[in-house]
Amino acid sequence: MRAVVCESYGPPSSLSILDLPEPVAGPDDAVVAIQAAAINFPDLLIIENLYQVSVPPPFTPGSEFAGEVVSIGSNVTNVRVGDQVMGGSFVGSFAEQICVAAASLNPIPAGLTIEQAAAFSVTYRTAYHSLVTVGGMKSGDWVVVLGAAGGVGTACVDIASRLGAQVIAVAASQERLDVCSKLGAVAGINYSTEVLKERIKAITGSGADVIIDPVGGPYSEEAFRGIAWGGRFVVVGFAQGDIPRIPLNLVLLKGGIIKGFEMRTATEHLTEAMDVGDKVLNAMVLDGVVPHISDVFTLDRTREALQFVADRKSTGKVVIRMQ
Ligand SMILES: NC(=O)c1ccc[n+]([C@@H]2O[C@H](COP(=O)([O-])OP(=O)(O)OC[C@H]3O[C@@H](n4cnc5c(N)ncnc54)[C@H](OP(=O)(O)O)[C@@H]3O)[C@@H](O)[C@H]2O)c1
Repeated sequence: MRAVVCESYGPPSSLSILDLPEPVAGPDDAVVAIQAAAINFPDLLIIENLYQVSVPPPFTPGSEFAGEVVSIGSNVTNVRVGDQVMGGSFVGSFAEQICVAAASLNPIPAGLTIEQAAAFSVTYRTAYHSLVTVGGMKSGDWVVVLGAAGGVGTACVDIASRLGAQVIAVAASQERLDVCSKLGAVAGINYSTEVLKERIKAITGSGADVIIDPVGGPYSEEAFRGIAWGGRFVVVGFAQGDIPRIPLNLVLLKGGIIKGFEMRTATEHLTEAMDVGDKVLNAMVLDGVVPHISDVFTLDRTREALQFVADRKSTGKVVIRMQ
């Protein structure tokens, strides 16, 4: 099978595409013929060894996929050969096949195409739990989403709008803000030309109830200065590259709450809330929620696709098609 391989840490251009032996299912595993895999920003960090957790090369990057089960281990009862499934893996998804624990696979809900199924879980689960489980968002809240045109950002705009929040999208160009307004944002701020705090205050009057921050850098403090008294600021990631330091006098004056959401640790510590959220998300899919996919590349063009995301050219999700 063909697979993208990170033979030594480096940028997307340093990745190889190699022929590797097909994986064999252990007793509790399933092998899935991947039809589509989605890019997430952490893939870029993992191949450069900039992520919180290091993966020693050689490895195949890619953390979410959808496809067909082609073989199962002797103990497996939850999936059968021929099932269409979606799944996640820390790495290994940018390949024609993957072997994972069968218990980690889910059927593809009616309403999602194979590309949408591959692109749904990471961003929509991150968005839902950042907004609701951690951010305590309620209908009517003013919600500010930084990096709103990205993968996590578009999912946040979509979910928050559907749950009745008034969403202010923040992105780097008017074209990117237009994508967010189609997903339900009621206002937009271009943070490459406008001052976040002033615009948040001008739009909301008393400030933002919830701020979702997958970007970091200088934008975090600027946005925090626009929070309402008692508002919740949720740290999701640092796509800008710099980890910000918020002056604590601002937290004191605003009565603000700063919390973090990270999928790996949340899965371990928020088991019940994660299950509840997954049920809500499944219902949303049945109600017509689909991820916004801006671009689809073939496996051969994975390097280009990753660079496209790194260059902030994508909106929503970028998907790799295996054939
Ligand atoms: N906590 C979790 O469990 C979790 C899960 C998934 C992702 N994340 C994190 O969330 C962040 C976003 O992930 P994503 O998959 O949504 O990424 P993405 O699709 O690439 O979106 C990131 C957005 O950040 C903005 N941005 C601002 N400065 C940037 C810079 N210097 N380089 C790149 N982007 C920049 C870009 O929008 P503009 O160009 O409009 O500014 C871009 O659309 C990442 O830090 C990722 O690690 C966290």
